[in-house]
Order: sequence, then structure tokens, then C-alpha cells
Amino acid sequence: MNLPEEIEVAAKQSYPVYLGAALEELGDYLQSLPDKIQHILVISHKKVSDLYLERLVKGLEDYRVDLLTVPEGEEEKSLERLSRLTTAALDCGADRKTLVIALGGGVIGDLAGFFASAFMRGIRFLQVPTTLLAQVDSSIGGKVAVNHPAGKNILGAFYPPLAVWTDFSTLNSLPWNEVENGLAESIKHALIDDEDLFAFFETQADSIRQRDPAIWREMVTRSTSIKIRIVSQDEREQGIRRLLNLGHTFGHALETEMNYRGVTHGQGVSIGIVAASYLANAKGSLTLTEVERIKQLLQRYDLPTSIQKQDPQTLLRRMQTDKKNQGGRKILVLPQGIGQAVVSEDCTDEEILAAWHKIIVENN
Ligand SMILES: NC(=O)c1ccc[n+]([C@@H]2O[C@H](COP(=O)([O-])OP(=O)(O)OC[C@H]3O[C@@H](n4cnc5c(N)ncnc54)[C@H](O)[C@@H]3O)[C@@H](O)[C@H]2O)c1
Repeated sequence: MNLPEEIEVAAKQSYPVYLGAALEELGDYLQSLPDKIQHILVISHKKVSDLYLERLVKGLEDYRVDLLTVPEGEEEKSLERLSRLTTAALDCGADRKTLVIALGGGVIGDLAGFFASAFMRGIRFLQVPTTLLAQVDSSIGGKVAVNHPAGKNILGAFYPPLAVWTDFSTLNSLPWNEVENGLAESIKHALIDDEDLFAFFETQADSIRQRDPAIWREMVTRSTSIKIRIVSQDEREQGIRRLLNLGHTFGHALETEMNYRGVTHGQGVSIGIVAASYLANAKGSLTLTEVERIKQLLQRYDLPTSIQKQDPQTLLRRMQTDKKNQGGRKILVLPQGIGQAVVSEDCTDEEILAAWHKIIVENN
């Protein structure tokens, strides 16, 4: 047996993250818990459960296991879906002792986690992330949510899981466009916290693109460790955790303006990182050589560093409604060299507009 690496997330209610765990061995872990479990509800997409449920339930023979599948897509993170899950869970005889297992990417993790936080005032849940984004980012940090017509993740909670059970082998079936979403976040982690990891992304680009298992193991472990380190210091996003928003204020403006079509979240973050880098250059915390280095790295993974046919003024207005803003001021994260970042509250609209201009290419 290949023992997983265990890293504790320090929080009001701490929990372990098992990196390199095997799906089949989850049952052994559950057996070791003091509070016994009888009933398990696995929440997943059909596609993901077709791929991985059989392996997961191999270790769960001692439990009564029910599977609830949810259709794909961000729009399924909704109150309607929550209500349907509740009905289906009650039909399966779920009660306050039931354990919810979220088997999937960030959509499943956020939805199943929010369901677990509310069902009978809160039941236990465990994250089994199967996308790169979920492994390095969304399964860590305790945020769970559903969307509302007024905005993304408007209804949510901090609801730490019992544990995060990360089996790297589930990433083998992930399509490359989904890999890109996770890579954008992983590169962001390196840029804000770890210059060595940034250099690793530069030197190992070919191996990463070829999905070399040892290199992926290292990439996921190092990237996840950064997220764990940051959220362990600031569970409620009052300070250092805000650094994780690098690229997101620009990226969200772009995603909303394009109606979530034509640009994926990872692409939005990638372009957002470049815009933030130009802004950091204007503020004197990043050299142009470093901006170029960041762009080149993103391009090596086919992540975009510019966008066509957008109006900077409209995008600036979109940034006005970002939920991270405070008292009308735009809160932006700016790289400070490679491997560090700062939260800036004093960027002027002119400076932000200039950054947008840098990444928008005219389409003649
Ligand atoms: N809670 C947080 O802290 C946090 C952080 C970042 C993002 N998020 C949320 O995460 C969501 C995005 O997550 P995502 O990028 O994982 O997308 P996703 O959950 O929609 O998954 C993307 C696609 O990959 C498929 N898939 C999942 N695992 C697979 C596998 N192993 N093999 C093949 N296909 C697989 C899914 O079925 C889906 O079609 C958004 O809703 C976002 O708001 C949450």
C-alpha cells in the first residue's frame, strides 16, 4: 500500500488532507474514525461516478451506500438542485448520522458541501476531488456554496469537511481544457507564494503536458500545500487568504462580460494574472522582464495572455460590482516579484484601465 501524505488544515475545526490516497482505501480511513458511520450518500456526476464509483465502493462494503447524481454544469449549483437533493436524500433514509461524500470537481464539492451544511442543520461530509482545480484549490479551505440569479456563490458557508481524500489517478481521465483550469490556479499559487514552484512549472512544462505521473504528483502536492498553508493562517479571508484572488477580479469581470461563454474560468484567471502583472509593473513592484516571464509560462500551457474585441471602460465598470471591493474601493492583488504578492487598495481607475489596455488586442 502506498501511504498517502497527510497534511492538516488548521482551522476552527481542523481536518486532514490525504494526498496520494487510493479511492479503494477510503473505507479503512472511515473505520478508524471514533464516531461510527452506517449510511453514506455519494453525490457525483454520472460521468464521474461511471468512472470511479466502483473503485470507491470497494472499500465501503461495510456501509449502506446510496448514489445521487447531479447533471453537469455550473447552473446545477442552485437552490432548485439543493431541494431535489434533499428529497432524494430523505427517500434514501438519510439522517443526521449520514456521511456525504462529494465525488467530483468544484461544482460537486461546493454543492454537496452546502447540502451537507444545511441538511438537518449539518451532517458530516468528505471531499473526494477529481479535477485538478478541485484537488489544488476548491476542496481546501472549507468554502461551500450555491449560486443565485443575483450572482455566483451568493449563498454559502464555511463548512470544513471531515477530510479531503485526494487520489491523483483520477486526474488521468480529465480532458486538457479542464486541466487548464487547474493549471491557472496552480500557477497563481506559485506566483503568490513559491518562486521555486514557479521555476518547476517552467522547467517541467513538457513533462506536465505529457502527464508524467511523478511530476504531476509533485505539482499537485506542492500546489495544494500552498493553499493549505494560506487558508490555515486565515480561514475567514480577513488577511493573507485574499492573496488567492490574484487575477480573479480582472478575470471575473471578463467572464461576466462574456456571459461565461468564450472564456473559461482558467482562461479568465490567466488573462487576469497578466493584467494584474501589468498593473504591478505600473506600481513598481514587478519588472517588465518579470511580466514577460509570467506571460511566457502561461503561454507554455496554452493559457491566453490577451483578449480581443473588449471595451476597457465596460470591463472597468464590471469590476465595480466585485464582491471583494470595500467601501467603493477596488481591492486588487498584485504580484511583487515572482513568489510574492500584496493586496493593494490604492489602484486608481486610470491605472486599472491602462492594465486592461495592455491585454486587449485590437482586432482589425
Ligand atoms: N469552494 C472553493 O473554495 C472554490 C474555489 C475555486 C472554485 N470553486 C468552484 O469550483 C467550480 C469549478 O470546479 P471545476 O473546475 O472542478 O469544474 P467542474 O466541477 O464543473 O468539473 C469540470 C468537468 O470535469 C468533469 N470531471 C470531473 N472529474 C473528472 C475526471 N476525473 N475525469 C473526467 N472528467 C471529470 C466534470 O464532470 C465536469 O464536466 C466552480 O463552481 C467554482 O465556483 C470553488
